[in-house]
Amino acid sequence: MAGKDTVKVKIEKVVKKYQGRSGEVVALNGVDLDIRENEFVCVVGPSGCGKSTLLNIIAGLQDATEGRVLVDGKEVEAPGRERGVVFQQYALFPWMTVRKNVEFGLKLQGMKGDELRATADKYIKMVDLEQFANAYPKELSGGMKQRVAIARAYAVNPQVLLMDEPFGALDAQTRTQLQTELIKTWEQEQKTCFFITHDVEEAIILAQRVVIMSARPGRIKEIVEINIPHPRTQETKMTKEFLDLKNYIWAQVYKEYLAIRK
Ligand SMILES: Nc1ncnc2c1ncn2[C@@H]1O[C@H](COP(=O)(O)OP(=O)(O)O)[C@@H](O)[C@H]1O
Ligand SMILES: [Mg+2]
Repeated sequence: MAGKDTVKVKIEKVVKKYQGRSGEVVALNGVDLDIRENEFVCVVGPSGCGKSTLLNIIAGLQDATEGRVLVDGKEVEAPGRERGVVFQQYALFPWMTVRKNVEFGLKLQGMKGDELRATADKYIKMVDLEQFANAYPKELSGGMKQRVAIARAYAVNPQVLLMDEPFGALDAQTRTQLQTELIKTWEQEQKTCFFITHDVEEAIILAQRVVIMSARPGRIKEIVEINIPHPRTQETKMTKEFLDLKNYIWAQVYKEYLAIRK
């Protein structure tokens, strides 16, 4: 039965070990997490704690050494259409225009004609790039390229969106703009989102729950519920409720940074 409390993504006892040059690296050491349908989960934690590894395992791009990930109760074995991924470095096709980039995944799904055009238009508009529909990636700024990557991921309408520091390479202003767009989009069409960031503010403004990971070997240290109601805006960041959460989560993450430096 589908509903608000349905588990969409189930992460079960996931362990990931890499064979490095200087021996074995335990990147994830037993991660359990249930992500509910339509829930926006953000993950924060120090660099190297296994965030990207976890996302890649959910995406089916990497295998877990132990444990498993289930989407709708079905074990993930490979990438799938129901999971869309956005990386930090916008992976656009440089030889295709913005429109062609957004249409690409839709064509793979067999969409054509008016429907293809209208769907691409809708998502190009969502990220405010109507005037650049015929531009090539090299003509766009970093923020614009990342907008295209987001439009492309949304257009194919995946049930689950996996985003690995998608705004990490952008300047502060572009970043807040894209946050606002992402919040609005989620408010309009809720999706199950798994979003990695090292920015605590970004995590709180977007998420319904913030997952704090501990320093390597990565585990879930704590999960903080963000009960700030939607609609949220950049002004939400000035409220006491927000600032209290920010101080609390930042302190927890900082302890993990210190653990690495020891
Ligand atoms: N392909 C790999 N081979 C060996 N070690 C890796 C590989 N990928 C990641 N690691 C190690 O696993 C740990 C977690 O990496 P990663 O998931 O990228 O962390 P994060 O995204 O939190 O910064 C790090 O110590 C990293 O060096
Ligand atoms: Mg990473």
